[in-house]
Amino acid sequence: MDKSNGLRVILFPLPLQGCINPMIQLAKILHSRGFSITVIHTRFNAPKASSHPLFTFLQIPDGLSETETRTHDVKLLITLLNRNCESPFRDCLSKLLQSVDSETGEEKQRICCLIHDSGWIFTQPLAKSLNLLRLALSTYTISFFRSHFALPQLRREMYLPLQDSEQDDLAEEFPPLRKKDLVRILDAETEQLDSYSDMILETTKASSGLIFMSCEELDQDSLSQAREDFKVPIFAIGPSPIHFPATPSSLFTPDKTCIPWLDRQEDKSVIYVSIGSLVTISESELMEIAWGLSNSDQPFLWVVRVGSVNGMEWIETIPEDFIKRLNEKGKIVKWAPQQEVLKHRAIGGFLTHNGWNSTVESVCEGVPMICLPFRWDQLLNARFVSEVWMVGIHLEGRIERNEIEGAIRRLLLETEGEAIRERIEHLKEKVGRSFKQNGSAYQSLQNLIDYISSF
Ligand code: UDX
Repeated sequence: MDKSNGLRVILFPLPLQGCINPMIQLAKILHSRGFSITVIHTRFNAPKASSHPLFTFLQIPDGLSETETRTHDVKLLITLLNRNCESPFRDCLSKLLQSVDSETGEEKQRICCLIHDSGWIFTQPLAKSLNLLRLALSTYTISFFRSHFALPQLRREMYLPLQDSEQDDLAEEFPPLRKKDLVRILDAETEQLDSYSDMILETTKASSGLIFMSCEELDQDSLSQAREDFKVPIFAIGPSPIHFPATPSSLFTPDKTCIPWLDRQEDKSVIYVSIGSLVTISESELMEIAWGLSNSDQPFLWVVRVGSVNGMEWIETIPEDFIKRLNEKGKIVKWAPQQEVLKHRAIGGFLTHNGWNSTVESVCEGVPMICLPFRWDQLLNARFVSEVWMVGIHLEGRIERNEIEGAIRRLLLETEGEAIRERIEHLKEKVGRSFKQNGSAYQSLQNLIDYISSF
């Protein structure tokens, strides 16, 4: 039932593809329940307003220079954005909260709350001073979100160095990661994020609620623990694809020619390969993937994002005759309409970096995975896929042609792959049921709507 009475919700995503997609999905969900939507966004990576004519988009300056917008250093980017955007965001929000439109003199719709990406850390005092209800959206799993706050302490307690014999032991502080996975997350690079994590924790604990695009069926134990940790209402409203199919919120232009190409392939025969919007690889890793795909002799659709291979524009160093050979069996694109691709009957597997969006998109379409996580939450998501849900094969970081070829053949051609496919079908159904009437995600979304409508 629509309880919104036309209330307005303000949404504030971080300008990264993996953060914009779930926020726009949330906007669509709330809009479908009668809320009006205003999205405040930065100039950098601005979402395409024309794809969402029913929402109001307001751009704020982000102070990034042209060079800064081209950086691959996500930590630097997030730091700069948090430093530069506080004051423009405050101005924009204050103006929105005035009850009368200064230009027309008309009374405005009431704003019931602000929902911001949990990565915006200046929102707490600001929303408080403006007397505005504030909820945070996490784009990670519940499990990663709650456990990653322990990383600074684990680092201080000298978790490192690790003995060889301990590599495969379970990291008790962060299950189901193994100690060797945790070491990869605790590298020197992420150390710079420790103080940022502390700020996120503080901002989350002081919020009026926390939203996850996950559900009990995927994240059950962590959900009850998170309720104890944060002591704020938590809404696990389900992975975004169970609410709406593909959302056109892509920052890059998807190459739609891959759909007619997929139409020409056999059912469940194609391996789809993508490492998301942020990860970069070396030229030799690019070549290993290319050889692995080619040697597997299976059709493939491979996304190589422009700028994702260090030191290269795109794939210009792959020799022409090898490209010709690759094109006989597969298709290489710069960006794909991923959700449409995963939905296609021809897709048999997904070689993925296990960003949370890619992982749940694959689960929701019942596509088994080959896990190639690079950093941060991807390592945990990959462990869930391969060890907890058992719906994928873990490459264990080996970007080597034989390993890739072997994993593709195991998944697409062998009985092991059939068993994995059966398990992911069950998981897909289970997650789908959570959004049927009285399912956990359905109920949680209803609670969220009741909650924000009551303010
Ligand atoms: C980042 C982090 O890397 C990830 O670990 C975290 O969970 C979310 O933020 P990203 O690396 O971009 O995200 O990965 P992911 O979460 O998988 O998001 C990528 C999104 O881009 C997905 O929604 C996917 O559908 C979309 N995509 C990707 C396309 O539309 N086309 C493509 O060709 C590739």
